Amino acid sequence: METRSPDWLLFVGKFLKQGTAIASFAPSSRWLARAMTADMELQPETCVVELGAGTGAVTAELLKTPCRASVIERDADFCRRLRERFPAADVVQADALDLEKLLDERGIDRFDHLLSGLPLPSFPADVRDRLMASIARRMKPEGTFRQLTLMPWVYARLYRSYFNDVDFHRVPLNLPPGGVSVCRNPFGRDPQGSAGSIPRP
Ligand SMILES: C[S@@+](CC[C@H](N)C(=O)[O-])C[C@H]1O[C@@H](n2cnc3c(N)ncnc32)[C@H](O)[C@@H]1O
Repeated sequence: METRSPDWLLFVGKFLKQGTAIASFAPSSRWLARAMTADMELQPETCVVELGAGTGAVTAELLKTPCRASVIERDADFCRRLRERFPAADVVQADALDLEKLLDERGIDRFDHLLSGLPLPSFPADVRDRLMASIARRMKPEGTFRQLTLMPWVYARLYRSYFNDVDFHRVPLNLPPGGVSVCRNPFGRDPQGSAGSIPRP
């Protein structure tokens, strides 16, 4: 019988080999995962995109309530783990930078919520700006962008450079202590809800 390594061991191995591309030495705790999905009021037709799903800590919380979810992760081993854990889910092995193409392929014009575990602070600024512009373009006017943040004292301010409204929810029980930035109303959005130019941080 094939035995599966625990998620944390898979994570540590990836972190040691890839460092900032993985950005964490362990999957998110259930407290952090719950903070990511809190107050989303999911309905079966609510469209949620998860970027950088890892081994599925946040995905597991998300999929507790039926919704239209697309789970995007770049790493092949993590995707294999996600498909084993969530066989009915739309798990896509892809680069988050191709977000708009992935949405088009699924017939999704706008999403309601985007859950990001991506190590955005370590993305080159121009690459991050392009991704944030795509997110702003494709987010519903009342939608949210939710970013996992470790070391919030360093990074929480970053998201204020892309969104008018940012609430930070601290999760001290996570190791290392972290939290979730819940962001609304991207800068540069016109009254019809499309995003114009997004200022650089
Ligand atoms: C900090 S981990 C978060 C994993 C998971 N969401 C959790 O909370 O445990 C970051 C994840 O983002 C993925 N990732 C990094 N860059 C990516 C990219 N450009 N496109 C898709 N996934 C990416 C990594 O492979 C890793 O799984």
